[in-house]
Amino acid sequence: MAEAKAYYITTPIYYVNDKPHIGHAYTTLACDVISRFMRLDGRNVMFMTGTDEHGQKVEKSAQADGTDPQAFCDRVSQNFRDLSPLLNFSNDGFIRTTEDRHTTACQAIWKGMADGGDIYLDSYAGWYSVRDEAYYAEDELEDGPNGEKLSPFGAPVEWVEEPSYFFRLSQWQDRLLAYYESDANRILPLSRRNEVISFVKSGLRDLSISRTSFKWGVPVPGDDDHIMYVWVDALTNYLTAVGYPDTDAESFKTFWPADVHMVGKDILRFHAVYWPAFLMSAGLEPPKRIFAHGWWTVEGKKMSKSLGNFIPPDEIVEKYGLDQARYFLMRELPFGNDGNFSHQAVVNRMNSELANDFGNLAQRVLSMVNKNCEAAVPHPGDLTIDDAGLLRGAREVLEKMRAAIDEQLIHQALAALWAVVGDANRYVDAQAPWALKKTDPERMATVLYVLAEVIRHLAILAQPVVPDGAGRMLDQLAVAEDQRSFAALTDDRMLRPGTALPKPQGVFPRYAGPEEADA
Ligand code: MSP
Repeated sequence: MAEAKAYYITTPIYYVNDKPHIGHAYTTLACDVISRFMRLDGRNVMFMTGTDEHGQKVEKSAQADGTDPQAFCDRVSQNFRDLSPLLNFSNDGFIRTTEDRHTTACQAIWKGMADGGDIYLDSYAGWYSVRDEAYYAEDELEDGPNGEKLSPFGAPVEWVEEPSYFFRLSQWQDRLLAYYESDANRILPLSRRNEVISFVKSGLRDLSISRTSFKWGVPVPGDDDHIMYVWVDALTNYLTAVGYPDTDAESFKTFWPADVHMVGKDILRFHAVYWPAFLMSAGLEPPKRIFAHGWWTVEGKKMSKSLGNFIPPDEIVEKYGLDQARYFLMRELPFGNDGNFSHQAVVNRMNSELANDFGNLAQRVLSMVNKNCEAAVPHPGDLTIDDAGLLRGAREVLEKMRAAIDEQLIHQALAALWAVVGDANRYVDAQAPWALKKTDPERMATVLYVLAEVIRHLAILAQPVVPDGAGRMLDQLAVAEDQRSFAALTDDRMLRPGTALPKPQGVFPRYAGPEEADA
């Protein structure tokens, strides 16, 4: 058998001292859904997440906590690790930038850039925001309410003057533009690609890439007075995770360059401008795709500590259920756009699309099979045009989903799948198998067979987003564990008439809490 084609997808590594909220969960969930899709589609997937543990922000938080930075990171990093069991993330690894292997990788890429002639020592005088961990030019700053200067993201900035190593970013303009041009989908969505291209075309300044005024970071090789700018360190995690600097390592050869770096729109510039330049400078291939998703607001407002409107992921999982939370986050927004989280919107989606449309379809069909077909897969007779049409629709959806997932358009993949859910519901209503029971039991068996087979398709294809519920539906159809990948979506693996089926149970319950009453 040919070796499965590799697929490497990453989340940004999370600032270790942040408290996880749905915005963080969102990036990782999107990667999880895509990873599960790719694995079911036969790909050899590597899906990485982790924590970003160096820099002034973390050093200050540890001081405020009265702990040394390493002990502080050891404790708080767990908050992000805990997201995986909570949200059923299938990440293949979790990287921490305080690991020794990561220091080795950072120092190796630094040497690579220095050997490439792109690093020089000078001094930096300018604005820096600890909260954003970013340098800003005077003209990028905004005026705060009390006349103070703020970063474009509203964070405080301070004037910094210190010796610093610089990266010759100014020399990379043409090569970066050529990199973007070499693949029309290099940066998605296209509106973001255009933003990046016009930023690069407007001219690039060299980038300060080391600090001397604090210690919590990776030392610059050969100059212990300097630690690396936290973004050089953080971005390098994507390489550390696949074995760099051992470029002969199997993992490196298999997975580099990454297929997708998934990021939020706020950190696109670091990933789409600095990172490819660092990599190319060090003689490494840049990533194949960078996708920038949008931001969630909550009930119309930006999530912020001061407004106290952070939504912790465990709250929505507890209230609505795991699959329900996953489905909502992936279906509500066109992936790439900003959008608003509201409890009412979760209830609407979970009740109408999961409970009524998908859950009820399976429950109705399987209950009829249970009662009227001796609790076994029915024996179909000849198929009508309508039967064949519904089955064809179910078979064709994989191709549509593949095309959407190839461009990270998760909402579109789900819309394609739910279009078949809608067709199946219309078919049940039109065929009325409950009426056929008396008038034409053979035809009833055919209709129920067609529906059960369509539900098999739907459940297999829904696994990436609602793994629990889809898995339980497949259990109820007696589909073996090793028959649940997309390779099983073929005619020769159709449900076998006569196979005994367990007693059906509802899979996606309705939410009937206070929010619904408020609607
Ligand atoms: N540590 C850096 C990333 C380094 S990667 C080499 C960082 N961390 S973060 O914890 O602040 O953000 C991680 C991700 O969460 C980003 O992609 C960011 O866009 C995303 N989100 C944070 N708040 C968000 C929302 N309100 N909505 C959607 N995503 C948001 O940046």
